[in-house]
Amino acid sequence: MRATYPDLSNCNVLVTGGASGIGASIVSAFCQQGANVAFIDIDAASADKLIHEIVEQSFATPIFQYCNLAELESIAPVIESLRSQLGDFDVLVNNAADDTRHTPQQITPNFWKNRLDINLGQQFFCAQAVYSGMQARGKGSIINFSSVSFQMALPELTAYATSKAAVIGLTRSLAREWGEDNIRVNTLIPGCVMTQKQLEQWISPEDEQKIQQQQCLKMRILGEHIADMTLFLASQSAAACTAQSFTVDAGII
Ligand SMILES: NC(=O)c1ccc[n+]([C@@H]2O[C@H](COP(=O)([O-])OP(=O)(O)OC[C@H]3O[C@@H](n4cnc5c(N)ncnc54)[C@H](O)[C@@H]3O)[C@@H](O)[C@H]2O)c1
Repeated sequence: MRATYPDLSNCNVLVTGGASGIGASIVSAFCQQGANVAFIDIDAASADKLIHEIVEQSFATPIFQYCNLAELESIAPVIESLRSQLGDFDVLVNNAADDTRHTPQQITPNFWKNRLDINLGQQFFCAQAVYSGMQARGKGSIINFSSVSFQMALPELTAYATSKAAVIGLTRSLAREWGEDNIRVNTLIPGCVMTQKQLEQWISPEDEQKIQQQQCLKMRILGEHIADMTLFLASQSAAACTAQSFTVDAGII
């Protein structure tokens, strides 16, 4: 059963990449808490489907806004438009990413720039766009998403893994810069999460078996496990947590 955090009820939450996968679990989890949720994605069809499912469960209805986060200049105006509808944000979940596989030989300068923009740069510009509102409110929680993939040195993910390693530096830097404004910034490091996309595109049943052999806990990690840690980090239960990394990977060793 999911914990309820009274301080998340009615707070304003922005989730990037919220239309599908882990992001969709996070959007649903905040709606379940009674938060006012806005989410950004490029996948409008999945966004509509998610909103429909959330409305059917009688949770608070989230707002969807299309935005290609790899176009860094479009981030500030899109977030300003959401802020004008909901008010200043209390929570930012920097979840969006693109883990399309690539070999080092396939990387061109444009590809490299695009991968760093979608997996790293946009996290910074989303944080920058919510900062003044959080500062005005005197509080905020920003949760940046990294990945165990760079720690495990998984193949065919060089630009993605480079970005996900840098997210930890981004978190610690912003936590230092904005700590005096009572804005907490943490990194969430998911393990191998069996989203529908992962199972369809990248992870075979044999791969999943191998992953579970590496995990201390022989379980399938789902989006809701990541959402539960996200809720905790967003809530006042994590009031003294900042500049840290929190791993949810069933104990990969
Ligand atoms: N699934 C895993 O096993 C796993 C493991 C480690 C880390 N993570 C991290 O967790 C987060 C979520 O993972 P996921 O597996 O659900 O990812 P995913 O690729 O399934 O979904 C990411 C979401 O971001 C959206 N998105 C992609 N490019 C975008 C763009 N340019 N602009 C706006 N939205 C865009 C997608 O449409 C999708 O809804 C990511 O940060 C990922 O790096 C996931």
